[in-house]
Amino acid sequence: MIVMGIETSCDETSVALLRDGREVLANVISSQIDIHKKYGGVVPEVASRKHLENMNHIIKAALLEANLKFQDIDLIAVTKGPGLVGALLVGVSAAKALAYGLDIPLIGVNHMEGHICANYISHKDLEPPFISLVVSGGHSYLIHVKEYTEYELIGTTRDDAAGESFDKVARSLGLGYPGGPLIDALAKKGNPKAFDFPRVMLEGNSYDFSFSGLKTAVLNTLNGLRQKNLNICVEDVAASFQEAVLDVLVEKSFRLLKERKQKILVISGGVSANDGLRKRMEERGAKEDVRIYYPEKILSTDNAAMIASAGYFHYKKGECSELSMQVTSNLGL
Ligand code: KG4
Ligand code: ZN
Repeated sequence: MIVMGIETSCDETSVALLRDGREVLANVISSQIDIHKKYGGVVPEVASRKHLENMNHIIKAALLEANLKFQDIDLIAVTKGPGLVGALLVGVSAAKALAYGLDIPLIGVNHMEGHICANYISHKDLEPPFISLVVSGGHSYLIHVKEYTEYELIGTTRDDAAGESFDKVARSLGLGYPGGPLIDALAKKGNPKAFDFPRVMLEGNSYDFSFSGLKTAVLNTLNGLRQKNLNICVEDVAASFQEAVLDVLVEKSFRLLKERKQKILVISGGVSANDGLRKRMEERGAKEDVRIYYPEKILSTDNAAMIASAGYFHYKKGECSELSMQVTSNLGL
């Protein structure tokens, strides 16, 4: 079964062709990062306009790469949320036009579910049940994945998401956008114990995440150093900040694995590209006999192959969307 996936929820226009939910035939990703970089973050209006300009070209490029024709496609899967409403509308409109014109089914996909499914592409042996940590620019989730399309959301974002805190701290260090990869690289050269930033675990045994206090602590430290005209070692700030985020992510994930008696942890979303996170999770996994999965880097950040995969598994369950399907910017899992 050939599924075309379309992803336009933020600043990547992406179209993929996938065979049987796990085999990538094409995954074309056109990033707008260079355009948004000069504004220090994504400008929604600009993102929508760029998606519109790119969409037809990216669809053609994906077909060319996969050496397929429109008639070979069996299903169109598209991100319907969460994301920027104008950006989502471009992808969903293109998907509806294709489904109608080719007379094939359409399926709307939750972007966060797509992130989890990126792992089915990278690891052909992976099957539910497992615990999943999904950490992106907009969300931090801990989920018990019980079946291919059955999710129990256990922990969620209280304020700033994990990726958002990387982006905000990077901005305050004058590093540019997106901050995650820049902090990741600097952290490797810094001392993670140089600053004692807070690890917010929240009340009781909560699995929710809160990173805004950590971000504020970093900003206050930087302001203090600047006021005293003291030198700021960017590498040490990056390493100490990242260590605080990772402590929380690792601790909560492993607490949940234990509580649910699960032995597989699947991480995904843009922050799962973080080398420090991958290393820490693997070290802890080896100690506690837990297998750690994460996608190859190109499938960690936004792409349409993961959307096609999620669409495939829903379609296999007999689900399908109407042509009247709406986009939902704050779509929950
Ligand atoms: O999943 P994603 O591509 O888009 C959303 O769905 O939000 O995630 C983007 C986020 C950004 O906040 C970016 O800074 C972060 O992922 N990110 C990273 C790394 N690469 C991307 N964060 C930490 N370390 C990285 N290597
Ligand atoms: Zn994403």
